[in-house]
Amino acid sequence: MREVLDLARDMSDGRLTSPLAGKTVCLAFFEASTRTAVSFELAARRSGADVISLSQNGSAIAKGESLVDTVVTLDSLGADALVLRHPSAGAAKLAACHSRAAVVNAGDGRGQHPTQALLDLYALSEAFGGLDELSGRRVVIAGDVLHSRVARSVIPALQTAGMEVALTAPRTLLPLDTDTWNLPILPSVDAALEWGAEILYMLRLQNERMTGGSPLVPSVAEYAAYYGVARRHLRQGVRVMHPGPVNRGVEISGDVVLDESSLIPNQVASGIAVRSAVLALATGVAHEVAA
Ligand code: NCD
Repeated sequence: MREVLDLARDMSDGRLTSPLAGKTVCLAFFEASTRTAVSFELAARRSGADVISLSQNGSAIAKGESLVDTVVTLDSLGADALVLRHPSAGAAKLAACHSRAAVVNAGDGRGQHPTQALLDLYALSEAFGGLDELSGRRVVIAGDVLHSRVARSVIPALQTAGMEVALTAPRTLLPLDTDTWNLPILPSVDAALEWGAEILYMLRLQNERMTGGSPLVPSVAEYAAYYGVARRHLRQGVRVMHPGPVNRGVEISGDVVLDESSLIPNQVASGIAVRSAVLALATGVAHEVAA
């Protein structure tokens, strides 16, 4: 984590120019994305790579080609890195088993979203004066943990940085094995502030993944009252985060999104430097450049 963050800082300060020159980065996004797709593309282009983009509809996946066959094809065409977003958990790992290219997971179903966790740590360490300044601080992850690959990557990342993590969510939006995670489960955002949370990390209510029929949240207004963040929560020193896209008025009220306590714009902006660093490390050029 420290290596990625240090390299990202060098990238953002302009200390490394075109580390990916001569490399080919393939962006394969088979699920909707705005900030992750755009920031990976900017990261790859600004680092000097040749970039090719592939989407579900514009590729042979729409003709029924399998993920593995697609990966093998991209490999044969000489991709050095494959950035993959896919609706199935485990897709990036499967792709990595069939590719000589470095595979970067840009979100796999309910699995993981590792570069989101890294850019969140980058944004936090910039806000608090360095990675070492995060240790001992309390952060609550609020909302739809059940469907969240972000939560599954962010929680271990924050803990590795020495932060204390708690959850607040209705039981229906927590995975069945949550108790084995050994995290405090708090009844509301208000309770999280009483517990001493300095960072309120809000998750999007992922309606598109709630396909089971019966509603997991009986009333959105009630959900917002307990598990959403509103202006009244913004006491001195409290910072709000959200990976985006935001459901305004559900997990976060509209007037909080761009409040000065919000790190959301910082999270988005951190994406370019962090993803440049990840691509440089994954393709093995970071060490050449450093040498
Ligand atoms: C997240 C994602 O797609 O996993 N967004 C993102 O990458 N910035 C979270 C979400 O969709 O809620």
